[in-house]
Amino acid sequence: ADTLALSSVEVDIAPIAVGQRVTVKWRGKPIFIDHRTAKEIAEARAVKLADLRDPALDKDRVKKQEWLIVIGICTHLGCIPKGQKPGAPRGAYGGWYCACHGSQYDTAGRIRKGPAPENLWLPEYKFVNDHTVKIG
Ligand code: FES
Repeated sequence: ADTLALSSVEVDIAPIAVGQRVTVKWRGKPIFIDHRTAKEIAEARAVKLADLRDPALDKDRVKKQEWLIVIGICTHLGCIPKGQKPGAPRGAYGGWYCACHGSQYDTAGRIRKGPAPENLWLPEYKFVNDHTVKIG
């Protein structure tokens, strides 16, 4: 049971308001859960694959369009990007901003500018029901 408890975490997402982001720990890593606004979803979906360094469609990075769930570790050198807290810098693409060397991610967690080579990675997860996400 201890091993199982460590390998996955269930998160009640009901209290997370539209536009709010929360961070949970999973296997020692920060997981960013972003309850995206309609505007953020539209921005993510309007981007052309040709404009992306690590091409991926928004719809292939989410299970439900309102919920973006990514591992909060910059793919450059492993810093934790800013953007989770209200008022924190999010960079020019509205996602996350990594202060160490200026990587900027969009509202799908895709790398748009700066040295990071890849998009923010996706954890394994599933929706157990409408208000519970199981990560791992
Ligand atoms: Fe994020 Fe360097 S670790 S830009």
